[in-house]
Amino acid sequence: MTDHLLDVNDLRVSFRTEEGVVHAVDGVSFHVDPGEVLAIVGESGSGKSVTGMTLMGLTRSPNSYFEGSATLEGKELVTASDAELRRIRGAEIAMVFQDPMTALNPVQHIGDQIVEQIRAHDSRISKAAALDRAVELMERVGVPRAKERLRSYPHEFSGGMRQRVMIAMALSNSPKLLIADEPTTALDVTIQAQILEEIRQLRTEMNAGVILVTHDLGVVADVADRIAVMYSGRIVEQGTLDELFYDPQHPYTWGLLGSITRIDRDRPGRLPAIAGLPPSLLDPPQGCHFRPRCPHEFDRCAEVPALEERSGAPGHCDRCWLSPEDKRRLRVVGEDGQIGLDAKEAPVA
Ligand SMILES: Nc1ncnc2c1ncn2[C@@H]1O[C@H](COP(=O)(O)OP(=O)(O)OP(=O)(O)O)[C@@H](O)[C@H]1O
Ligand code: SF4
Ligand SMILES: [Mg+2]
Repeated sequence: MTDHLLDVNDLRVSFRTEEGVVHAVDGVSFHVDPGEVLAIVGESGSGKSVTGMTLMGLTRSPNSYFEGSATLEGKELVTASDAELRRIRGAEIAMVFQDPMTALNPVQHIGDQIVEQIRAHDSRISKAAALDRAVELMERVGVPRAKERLRSYPHEFSGGMRQRVMIAMALSNSPKLLIADEPTTALDVTIQAQILEEIRQLRTEMNAGVILVTHDLGVVADVADRIAVMYSGRIVEQGTLDELFYDPQHPYTWGLLGSITRIDRDRPGRLPAIAGLPPSLLDPPQGCHFRPRCPHEFDRCAEVPALEERSGAPGHCDRCWLSPEDKRRLRVVGEDGQIGLDAKEAPVA
């Protein structure tokens, strides 16, 4: 038993497909405490969404397989019944999806959708009281003239406003855990900053735990308390924001840091990129999954490195066999102090 709000232990999720078994999540462990923002970052296809969706029971299908454990206040989610998960979804864990249009009903007024969400988990609340609460929530997440806009349809809202509505719906039952999956990716930089500010305030005011999924390390710098870096179905490094930014241990993290786009600076003509492609999840390399792209690979890397405290800082864990001294010597530090991998220059996409 632990005191964590969410405790994920050696979680594995695989899917049977025509090409073979996809090991989308391959032994992931992390925790989230109340009032804490954990960011999960990593390249496309690393298993971030599958991890988040599995906590909500949204990856269940005849072709999916689960191992390991994920508990919310001690209650197991992986083996919970479908009925139990339906109750937990929305009430205890809420999720904001990357594309709000897929999660909102295009032919129903925004206000009615929020009211339905509120009443689904609180059958005693009257429609009028639920409407008042809907207005309050919309104002809370920064939708101007919220009362007038209850009768709008999703297409009448901008992308940023739709994302706010999604956040209002996710918060309607004061969840203990909010999973925000790329909540800002489709939005311009100013709106991104506002949405992230909302998430920050909400975790403080409601003391909810937040998992913020993103592939953009720059976006999390302001909001996250801790970061978990995912690569090819595994967490390869986990630590506080300062540990990850100023003393990163895993070569993949160096590569990610070397590819940050700084909001406060002009975008350079060329960004460093990590050479090579992520491995196939159908047939990942033996041992460390980063081997084919790692310039520092050596014999031992054919064995799987466990996610362990290796840097000397309690709670700062990584999956790389290099000694901490070698890591600090081998990572590349630019003139501006920014850490990177000795990556090849690549054109901006
Ligand atoms: N239902 C499924 N059946 C088979 N494979 C799946 C299924 N769902 C996800 N996958 C695969 O699992 C891997 C991880 O996907 P996931 O969506 O978690 O990536 P992600 O890290 O969220 O990426 P992105 O940044 O692009 O959103 C991908 O290779 C994906 O194709
Ligand atoms: S374990 Fe080996 S291959 Fe993997 S990141 Fe470390 S040095 Fe590179
Ligand atoms: Mg995703």
